[in-house]
Amino acid sequence: MSYNVDAIRSHFPSLASGAIFFDNPGGTQVPQEVIDAVSHYYLTSNSNTHGAFATSRRTDAVLADGRVALADFLNARAPNEIVFGPNMTTLTFSISRALSRLLNAGDEIIVTRLDHDADIAPWLALEERGAVVHWVDIHPDDCTLDMADFEKHLSTKTKVVAVGGASNAVGSMNDLKTIIPLAHMAGALVFIDAVHLAPHEPIDVQDLDCDLLACSVYKFYGPHLGVLYGKYDLLNRVQAYKVRPSGKQPPDKFETGTANHEGIAGACAAIDYLASVGDQYGAPYAAQFKSFSGRRLQLKTALAAIKVYERDLFARLMRGLCEIPGVQIYGITDYARFGYRTPTVAFTLKEKTPREIAERLGRENIYVWDGNYYALALMERLGLEEHGGAVRVGLAHYNIAREVDQFLEVMKKI
Ligand SMILES: Cc1ncc(COP(=O)(O)O)c(C=O)c1O
Repeated sequence: MSYNVDAIRSHFPSLASGAIFFDNPGGTQVPQEVIDAVSHYYLTSNSNTHGAFATSRRTDAVLADGRVALADFLNARAPNEIVFGPNMTTLTFSISRALSRLLNAGDEIIVTRLDHDADIAPWLALEERGAVVHWVDIHPDDCTLDMADFEKHLSTKTKVVAVGGASNAVGSMNDLKTIIPLAHMAGALVFIDAVHLAPHEPIDVQDLDCDLLACSVYKFYGPHLGVLYGKYDLLNRVQAYKVRPSGKQPPDKFETGTANHEGIAGACAAIDYLASVGDQYGAPYAAQFKSFSGRRLQLKTALAAIKVYERDLFARLMRGLCEIPGVQIYGITDYARFGYRTPTVAFTLKEKTPREIAERLGRENIYVWDGNYYALALMERLGLEEHGGAVRVGLAHYNIAREVDQFLEVMKKI
C-alpha cells in the first residue's frame, strides 16, 4: 500500500485543531494510541516498581516492555542496553559525569559546533576535572561538519567523541559511518546525540557500532522521555552515581529515582504505532533490511517510508522558500544532497527578526520556532546569535503539501 498521509493524520487528534505544526524538531504531536496507553497505565497499573501486588507487577511489565520496544527501535542487542531518563539532556549529564571516572587529567574530548548544547555542555563540564575539550568546526556555506578539522583534533589522547546524528537547527546529517570507526581507531568512545535523527532515519546501533547513543521519545510521536543506549559491557564497567538500595546492574544503576512509568507506557505505544506505519507502507523498503524481522523490520521500513515522504514534502518547501526575495537559508539546499539532511530548515528574512516572523506565522496558526533552539555554538558560528537566531521549520511524517503551501503564502505576504 502506498503512503497514505490522510490515514496517518487520522491517528493524531491534535491535528484536527487546524493548526499547522511545523515546530516538530522541538517535539511532535502524539497519536491516539499513545494517549490511550498513558491513560490505560493510570487506570490499571499506577504504582511503583518491584512490589508484591498487581499494579506494581504491571508496572514492572510496562518497564520491561518499554525496554524491549526501544531496543527494537534502535536495534540494540538486548533490552538491558536501554536506560530511561527524564530527557536526553539529563541522561547525557549523568553519563558524562559517570564516564569522567574513567578519565585522567589531560584526556581529550571532541565536541562539534553543529551540536545542540545538550551534547556540548555535559562534556564541557568535565573540564573542571582536567579534561581538554576540542571543538570541530563547520563549513558555514552548507552547515556541514568539517571532517578535516575533526581528523586534525583526533589523536590517541582522545577518549570521547561526542557528535550529533543530525543538527536540530539546520538538518545536516553527520557521516557517522566514517566518524565512528575513525574515533575507535584512535581508541575513543563515541557518544551520539540522535535526538534529531531518530524521527527521520532508521537507527541501528549495532551497525553504527557507537558506544552510547541518546534520543528523546517526544521527538518521535511519544511522551516526554529520554532514552540512552549503551553497549552493555561499557554500561557495566562505568560506575554510576546512584542511591545505594537501587539496582546495581545496568540499566537500573543509571536510572535514578522513580521513572516516568506512564511515559514509558506511552513510549511503547509510540513504537508500536511506528511499527504499524512500517507494516502498512514499509513493504517497498524491506529488501534494504534483509537481516531484520518482526517489529524491528517494521520499524526500519516505517522510517524508510517516512524518509521518502518527508523528503518530497521538504523539496516543495525548499523550492518555495528559495523563491522568496530576502530569504537566506542556512544548510544544504541542493536537492541531490537531500539524503544527507533532515526536513528541517533554518532561515532568516531581510529586515525582519526571526521572532517577528514566528509571531506573524503564529497568528496564522502556523507554529514554528525562532531563536537558537539550544544550538548555541552553531548560531554563534553563523553570526546569528546576536540577531535573534533564525526561524526554524521542521516537517514530520503527518505534514502535508497544503500546509507547506499555506506557510509559503504567508511568507510571501511578510
Ligand atoms: C539534537 C538535540 N539534542 C538534544 C536535545 C535535548 O533533548 P531533551 O529535550 O530530551 O533533553 C534536543 C532537543 O531539542 C535536540 O534537538
